This record gives sequence, structure tokens and C-alpha cells, in this order.
Amino acid sequence: MITVTVPLGERCYPIHIGAGLLSQAGALIAPVIRRPRVFVVTDTAVAPLHLPALLASLDAAGLVHDHVVLPQGEGTKSFAQLESLLETLLAARVERSTTLVALGGGVIGDLTGFAAAVLLRGVDFVQIPTTLLAQVDSSVGGKTGINTRHGKNLVGAFHQPRLVLADTAVLDTLGPRELRAGYAEVVKYGVIDDAPFFAWLEQHGPALLEGAPQARAEAIATACRAKARIVGADERESGQRALLNLGHTFGHAFEAETGFSRTLFHGEAVALGMVLALDLSVRLGLCPAEDVLRLTRHLEDVGLAVDPRAVPSAPVWDVDRLLEHMGHDKKVADGRITFVLARGIGRAFLEREVDPQRVRESVRAFVGG
Ligand code: GLY
Repeated sequence: MITVTVPLGERCYPIHIGAGLLSQAGALIAPVIRRPRVFVVTDTAVAPLHLPALLASLDAAGLVHDHVVLPQGEGTKSFAQLESLLETLLAARVERSTTLVALGGGVIGDLTGFAAAVLLRGVDFVQIPTTLLAQVDSSVGGKTGINTRHGKNLVGAFHQPRLVLADTAVLDTLGPRELRAGYAEVVKYGVIDDAPFFAWLEQHGPALLEGAPQARAEAIATACRAKARIVGADERESGQRALLNLGHTFGHAFEAETGFSRTLFHGEAVALGMVLALDLSVRLGLCPAEDVLRLTRHLEDVGLAVDPRAVPSAPVWDVDRLLEHMGHDKKVADGRITFVLARGIGRAFLEREVDPQRVRESVRAFVGG
């Protein structure tokens, strides 16, 4: 087991990474919670696969537990499901000392974390992420929330978990497409500030996606260390945490244009977005063209699309609409988008003064029109 600590003073917490942690979850959770009572929140896709092992480990550790199984899918990150979850928890007479346990991907983690933030003005929670994307990104750093009709993640809270358990063996139950999409977020950390990690991924990425357990654990640990460092320095995103949005501004536009549907998974959109972010950096004379090629080559090597027009069942992309979506992103301040650009792989930085004409050129180069 590898342990990474998120350094946040009295709210500091460990992320344990390793194969088979689900069966030890009870023993790992017991020492960090206030009373031996937990409430597990999961969904219909994850429950049949992993809930029995978790409940058995809670029993073995002598923890009293309840659970609720919510519908699978992004639609669960809604006011309606939040209300229903809170009512379920209150009906079960949870107390301030009860700990919620999120067993699932980003949707369950974000919703459960937000419920924990507001329930009885705040209860503790533990994250057990079951997708690669959740293990390297959404379960770490305390961003919780739901979607509204105005956009994704627009209502939420910063609420740090007490513990994160990333069981690398549960990733075996993911489909290859979901795994690859999560992998894009792993690559992101290399592009942000860790060129040696990017080079390591070029060598080990394909094996990692095939299932090599050691490579998986190492990659997840490196990603979590990077995220822990960034979140530790800027928990509420007043500066450098925004680097974690590399590829997200462009990616968000593609996702919005496909209605956040299965046409384009979040990680797939981030992969496209990173390529556009580096392409824009090249157009601005900031980044060597070879670095975009290198990124493109690696993403293609692992089977991620780098051309928006090659995305199966993609719409005919419209430059104006994509630019409009970018302008509606929640990272816009005073009408300006903060771009994450790069001077090369491993050298990302934030830039607010980007010529909109160059952005348009970049988007047009990828989608035509
Ligand atoms: N997923 C970006 C962040 O946690 O800040």
C-alpha cells in the first residue's frame, strides 16, 4: 500500500493506494472516524460489484452500517437526488458523529461529499473511488457539488474527506473506454509540471491500461501526490489550483456541445482539450510544436481521440457555439477566460490575456469551418 498525504493542517488526510484495499476498508476507516457508525452511499452500477466486499469489511471491523443505492449516471448529481439522499439520511437518524462513505465514481463522490458538507451543518466523509478518473482527480481535494440547469458543478462546497481509499483492483471492472478516459487525467499531471512523469507514461501507459498492477499503483500515486501538493498550496483555487483545469476549458465546450452524453466522456474531452491548449500555446509562440506532437502521439498510442472530428457520432462542430460554451465556463472572471497554457510538456501556466482571435484559430484548426 502506498500512502499520500494531503497537507491541509488539521484537515490533512491520507490517500491509501493499493490492490485489495476494499477488503481492508473497515480496518482503515475505523481509526479515523468519530463513532463506529457509517452510512455508505453508492449506485446501481457499483453496488453489485463492490458493495458486498465493503460491507463485509465494515462488519469485520465492528462498524455499524447502513447503505443507500442511487441511480447510476450524471443525472444523480441533482437537487432532486440531493434532497432525497438527505431525507434518507435524516430518516435513518444519522448524527453529527456518523461518517458517510462514498463508494463509486465522481458522481457519487461529489454528491455524497456535498451531502456531508451540509447535513447537520457538516459531517465527516470517506471516499472510496471506483473509477480511475475519481482515483486521480475527483475524490482528492474536497471539491463537492451537484449540477443545475445552468451548468455542471455550479452548486457545491469545499469539504475535505477524512480518508481516501483507492483500490487499484476495482479498476479491473471498468470498461476499456472508461479506463482510457480516466487515463487522460493522469497524463494531465505530466503535462502540468512533471515532464519525467510524462516520459514514464510514454513507456508504461499502454501496459498500465492493459492492467499492470504495479504501473497502475505508481501512476495513481504520482497523480495523487501532484494533486495533493497543488491542493495543499491552494485549497480554494485562488491561484495555482486552476492549473488542474488544463484542457478543461476547451474540453468543457466539446462536452457541452454533446450534451454531456456518452458521445464524449469527460476524460476524452480533457484529452482533446489538452491538445488544443498546447496547440494554442504553439500559435502564441510559447511552446515548441514538437511538444504538441508528442502529446498527440501518446494520447493516440493509448487509443484516445485527438481529433474532434474523429469522435464517433460527434455532431458537426460549430466554432461559434464552441467559443460560446467556453465563455460560459465557471472559470470565467470579469468576462475573461483564464487559460491554462504551456511552454512545453511539464511547463503549464495560467494566462488571462489571450488574444480571442488566436483561440478562434485554434478551434477552427481542429473542427474546420
Ligand atoms: N478537478 C480540479 C480540481 O480538483 O481542482
